[in-house]
Amino acid sequence: MPGRNTNCADNVFMISLYLGLALFIVNVSGECDYPPDYPNAVLKEEHQTQGPPDFVEGFKITYTCQSGYVPNGGSPKITCTSSQWSPLTLVCERRSCGNPGEILNGHFNTDEGVLFGDKAYAVCNEGYQLAGNGVRNCRATGWDGAIPICESVKCPNPPSIVNGEITNPPQGTVTFGTSFTYMCSKGVLVGNSELVCTKYGNYSSDPPTCKDHKGCPSVQVENAIKTAGFGPVYKYKDSITFACNPGYILKGTATVNCGVNETWEPQLPTCEKAPTTPTITTTSAQVPPAPSPAPTTRTTTTTKLPPAPSLGNAFCSNTMNVYLL
Ligand SMILES: *[C@@H]1O[C@H](CO)[C@@H](O)[C@H](O)[C@H]1NC(C)=O
Ligand SMILES: *[C@@H]1O[C@H](CO)[C@@H](O)[C@H](O)[C@H]1NC(C)=O
Repeated sequence: MPGRNTNCADNVFMISLYLGLALFIVNVSGECDYPPDYPNAVLKEEHQTQGPPDFVEGFKITYTCQSGYVPNGGSPKITCTSSQWSPLTLVCERRSCGNPGEILNGHFNTDEGVLFGDKAYAVCNEGYQLAGNGVRNCRATGWDGAIPICESVKCPNPPSIVNGEITNPPQGTVTFGTSFTYMCSKGVLVGNSELVCTKYGNYSSDPPTCKDHKGCPSVQVENAIKTAGFGPVYKYKDSITFACNPGYILKGTATVNCGVNETWEPQLPTCEKAPTTPTITTTSAQVPPAPSPAPTTRTTTTTKLPPAPSLGNAFCSNTMNVYLL
């Protein structure tokens, strides 16, 4: 019986002893585990081979900013106190690479920023193109690569044309913005006389051509007179303007031009007899839902119209006869 009691007492004693020992180890020995990882910071080299038995009470560990980052305040040290590491206050920020450089006839786009990991993109001015790599990366050691070159866009030599020439032929390489003027030695120039070397390395248009041109025929429009362009000879690009005799309405375009195909462009206009009284009456009759005061106005208009055309016709036919004679 007493043995049992002794056993029980022994057990209680042993448990208490283990607990006390455990507490003693934790509290009194105060060793720390591996130090925690912090973003953008690394352990100083000397600590990288150390392990838990080394981290005794009061042990200090120093961090440094990781490659590409620079310290900006705080302490780089943490201390082991009662088996706990104090928190790291060191602040590590991305390093700045500064200005990526000046480009002649261009610039760097640094909208992304100039800090570690950012990219700067070369942009050439209009009419210039990039030679070399246009992207620089901000690395731990600074901007990588080199400043690229923006070189002027080039055009091939302007084409020559039959029966014509370039008044200012190229002297060496043709660069963006250069223009050439063509002239015909025979015939008429059709198309653009000036070609400009564009930012795309081509010309603003096809070269002109020199075309034989015998002129356009002298023409007349029935019931019309010429108010400009009396001829009698019409060359390329000459024009005639027609006006209808009173009582006639012009359909089409009043002014026509002597076109490249020796014809008048656009089509010649026509003069059509102005609508007579019955036509107007019909038109008015077709609009019945008009309010009551309207008919009065209409009557006035219709009564006014007829005399004018008849007088005008007589007068104009006379005039025409005179012209024709
Ligand atoms: C020149 O090249 C650009 C780009 O390829 C194109 O859009 C343009 O139409 C070209 N111009 C002519 C006149 O061919
Ligand atoms: C002139 O004639 C050519 C060849 O017949 C034709 O292709 C062209 O469309 C004509 N131009 C005009 C403005 O009528």
